[in-house]
Amino acid sequence: MSETTTPRALIQAAAQARLGAVAPYSHFQVGAALLTSSGEMLGGANVESASYGLTCCAERVALFAALTGGRRDFIAVAVVARAPGGPMPCGACRQLLAEYAPQAKVYVADSDDLEQFREFTVRGLLPEAFVLVP
Ligand code: THU
Repeated sequence: MSETTTPRALIQAAAQARLGAVAPYSHFQVGAALLTSSGEMLGGANVESASYGLTCCAERVALFAALTGGRRDFIAVAVVARAPGGPMPCGACRQLLAEYAPQAKVYVADSDDLEQFREFTVRGLLPEAFVLVP
């Protein structure tokens, strides 16, 4: 965690990013926010397609935007949705996070109760991840 950024601030940023969700099919709106070691927070939300498989999760939208914006060195990611206990990142997002944010902590929170959050690590969520360049 960047010295000045609390998990709650990152969760708040994820909740804010969630407002941008485009989820006309599932109506399940998800927001994610990444934190860099320099304290920058970068958000994203899920975007769905009529061709369902093209849907992109909030975590990957946030990660792709951050990466293509030149950001690296992610130390935490927060994910927020209306889900008891908070939404757990799917397998595809775990893989991408393992590649580009391997050191990151993961905070998940229910959008109805942002004060209660659970904490994981990317390593813990995807042990022995596949990487081409270890
Ligand atoms: N979703 C995410 O944004 N993140 C996850 O980790 C799991 C699922 C989205 C994809 C889809 O738009 C909706 O939630 C329902 O699956």
